[in-house]
Amino acid sequence: MTGRTFDARRIVVALDFPDADSARVLLRQLDHSLCRVKIGKELFTRCGPAFVEEVVAQGFDVFLDLKYHDIPHTVSKAVAAAAELGVWMVNVHASGGREMMTAAVESVRASSHKPLLIAVTVLTSMAAQDLQEVGVDASPMEQVRRLATLAKHSGMDGVVCSAQETAMLRQLLGHEFVLVTPGIRPAGDAADDQKRIVTPEEAIAEGSHYLVIGRPIARAENPGRKLAEIASRLHGRFSDLC
Ligand code: C5P
Repeated sequence: MTGRTFDARRIVVALDFPDADSARVLLRQLDHSLCRVKIGKELFTRCGPAFVEEVVAQGFDVFLDLKYHDIPHTVSKAVAAAAELGVWMVNVHASGGREMMTAAVESVRASSHKPLLIAVTVLTSMAAQDLQEVGVDASPMEQVRRLATLAKHSGMDGVVCSAQETAMLRQLLGHEFVLVTPGIRPAGDAADDQKRIVTPEEAIAEGSHYLVIGRPIARAENPGRKLAEIASRLHGRFSDLC
């Protein structure tokens, strides 16, 4: 484990925008004492590390969601570069294997700034047949269980998981193992393209530490107020868990 602190900021707002200016408009409306933010492949590919540093300098904890998957040496160097940007969380694909994850863990341990290191198990876009086509005969749930266990044994801090998997992984891997859950919709919000949604309260109750929330906050009439509402509804729950 690379070490961590849990605090009130359980909400990770996804900055799913095509350009920095659109992301900046949302960032100006978010209180960084109530949330963290996620920068993924689209925004990073367009705006690069300078934008990540800009967001970090504003006081936001940044989850750099680039899902590294390569030979151990390359991943360890990429993780070290992410750590130098000052990000709070970074992720790799667990299917890169034990040696790749261990190299990433050692890289974080050697860095002065130590982001949380999270593994992606099975992409939620992949069903049993998709796994079979790439040579995996296990069901998605079995494969998630296998890769999450491998991630823990490799020293990773946690995994990204769907709402279907949270309770099983919490029971299997203990309270300290970080679970990051997307597919969150406050009661009454549209599901969009998410297939199985849970409310923020349900996700926390099932054992998720961090909730990735994009459109429900980004498209709200007042994103700052929407964030504050969700955070305040969660407050009673996470104070029991911290
Ligand atoms: O807008 P919404 O709340 O659906 O955004 C969810 C975020 O979480 C997006 O950035 C999406 O790419 C990400 N994500 C997901 N499902 C996964 C992994 C990541 O929705 N299994």
